[in-house]
Amino acid sequence: MSKNHQLINTITQPKDTKKILGCLRDNGICLIENYYDQEKCDSIRRSCIERAEVDEDLNYPDGSYRRFDVYKNTGAAANKRVFHVDCFNYEAAILKNDEFLKNIAKAYYNNNNEYSVHVQVYERHQFYHIPVRGFHIDTFETSTFKAMMYLNDVNSNDGPNSYIIGTHKDTELRRKKEFDWGPSVGDDFDNTFKPHPTNFTRNELGPLINNWVKITANKGALILFDTWGVHCGISPAEDGDRHSITNYYRPGKNLPRSDFGFNPDKDYKKYFVKST
Ligand SMILES: [Fe+2]
Repeated sequence: MSKNHQLINTITQPKDTKKILGCLRDNGICLIENYYDQEKCDSIRRSCIERAEVDEDLNYPDGSYRRFDVYKNTGAAANKRVFHVDCFNYEAAILKNDEFLKNIAKAYYNNNNEYSVHVQVYERHQFYHIPVRGFHIDTFETSTFKAMMYLNDVNSNDGPNSYIIGTHKDTELRRKKEFDWGPSVGDDFDNTFKPHPTNFTRNELGPLINNWVKITANKGALILFDTWGVHCGISPAEDGDRHSITNYYRPGKNLPRSDFGFNPDKDYKKYFVKST
């Protein structure tokens, strides 16, 4: 068995609250295979493709919107995204409101808050001249919780999600990044890109790289992870293609949709948005 498969086995759990929580606390990440069946995944993927595969960014009347390479010049999101999939796909709305997952988030943080999803994002990774953003954490301020579901079978060519197991607990690593090492562009980017405060280089990570798991898994697999751990999507090969949908959790019961730093009406010039 390859080293990567051993690491995948370490983070794979059945749909069992106690086992999932133990895995998340130890590793920062947990994989649940076959969380959704193929038909549900196909339904979500098909309706997302319809909105993602258009010539330019669009705002849809139901509140969803399509963006490409949203953080231009940083390489942070050089892919196609559709925000608020729950606006137009029933199965995605069920996933957004999944009580099992809300309860996992609540129990994981154990701080008496209810948790719910403020934004649900579809992403399509394909080969592109700008690589996928390298090793990073999402923010220094606080740990956040995400649930990502694969909408197609993802092998090593398709740009699997990846994670450095255990780094969610590494306060010293985050402190060094924030106060000693400072921002970086990441290993796959040249200095025409803007350094990002939460990007890590391989050199900074050193031997932690030994715990780097690339999560190859089939359609319907769900990856729960704490974004305080170091993670990255792998850049897809030329024949690669990865479709995924991700729930972003925050404390609060039944949170309203958030635009996640965007104002879809006001960003017209910045992101070349065209309203329908
Ligand atoms: Fe991230």
